[in-house]
Amino acid sequence: MPGHRSTPTSPPSSNPSHATAAPAAGSPRTSNTRPPASRRTVQAAELPAPFQQANGWARPAAADTDRADAATGTLAFVQQAFPDGAAEREELVRGLLTPHAQVSPKYFYDMLGSHLFEAITELPEYYPTRTEATIFEQHALEMAERAGTGAVLIDLGAGNCAKAARLFPALRPAQYVALDISADFLRATLVGLQQQHPGLPMVGLGADLCAPLDLPPEVRAGRRLFFYPGSSIGNFDPSGARALLDRLRDAAQPGDGVLIGVDLLKDRTQLVNAYDDALGVTAAFNRNVLVHLNRVLGANFVLGDWCHVAEFDERAGCIRMYLECRRDVEVHWAGGGRAFHAGERIHTEDSYKYRREAFSALLEEAGFREPVCWTDPQGWFAIFHARV
Ligand SMILES: C[S@@+](CC[C@H](N)C(=O)[O-])C[C@H]1O[C@@H](n2cnc3c(N)ncnc32)[C@H](O)[C@@H]1O
Repeated sequence: MPGHRSTPTSPPSSNPSHATAAPAAGSPRTSNTRPPASRRTVQAAELPAPFQQANGWARPAAADTDRADAATGTLAFVQQAFPDGAAEREELVRGLLTPHAQVSPKYFYDMLGSHLFEAITELPEYYPTRTEATIFEQHALEMAERAGTGAVLIDLGAGNCAKAARLFPALRPAQYVALDISADFLRATLVGLQQQHPGLPMVGLGADLCAPLDLPPEVRAGRRLFFYPGSSIGNFDPSGARALLDRLRDAAQPGDGVLIGVDLLKDRTQLVNAYDDALGVTAAFNRNVLVHLNRVLGANFVLGDWCHVAEFDERAGCIRMYLECRRDVEVHWAGGGRAFHAGERIHTEDSYKYRREAFSALLEEAGFREPVCWTDPQGWFAIFHARV
């Protein structure tokens, strides 16, 4: 579900705070424009305990550390997104000050937001994850036959990497590259995953998909399969989705492909319930963006002043999420602020739903060839493969 509107951010660059050299595999398809200080090899024992515990990965005892280190020896982590908090603050303030205030859904995903999203995927109302998993289970071998085995598997918005990991046996990737804006969560996840798959080279990329795709030299040369599950592409409006597909097309070469999960149009009640569950987990996920705003901007949003709203825009075929103010409030942040009247909203997420033909057409317009899709018996969700 959540992901992003097509708000552009500044292009990524190096983050000097992540400084330790890691072995560069070197790729003739990419140029090393970032100083080596932006990448490092992550070892399990380096992670702060909360990151390890949060992912169910126990910190190794001293005697286990060498084994853990050996197992994670090939894991490199490259941090590209938000090297400079100023750009993030500027984007957030700009969104808050527009007449219809908005915050890009990419800001849902701090450590807590990533965990809340995992909880959402367990909810009875949230059919996409389960449905998509069933399609993968049933058609993984056909997908591998079509997409080919032995590619570099590039997981966009990888989250807990679970979907890609389940496809490893069928796709047998030469390398696994996991990209996500929620860098701490991704880093911790990858340490555990690398231990489970010590023979599979892995690269973590803390990057923003709204920025140009800049694959670092750690990403191997060779055939690439861009994997974008979870219907995250629906978080872009159709022109933003097209722009993202264009960026993938530009980063791809003949022989490469995309494997993309897309949520399909369906009954309004089923859609709304998926984004407004009875337990209130999606509401907590939505409100967590205010925690992010308070932290990053030094703002004083009071969570109890805001309620979660999910609506289906039938004309656009889109679920829209908002935070609606319960009373008149004045919110302040470092250097500014704004008043919100009771009933005023902050737009936090769009989730566009597609018809199969429309998404196939979008792939073709972006220059991908021969799109095919697999779906579930109810026709709720589709996974598309297309070639370059
Ligand atoms: C809906 S979750 C999907 C997670 C996982 N791929 C799945 O299918 O379960 C969206 C993921 O994309 C990441 N994400 C959201 N916006 C992003 C952005 N602009 N750039 C990179 N990652 C982003 C989030 O951190 C989150 O892990």
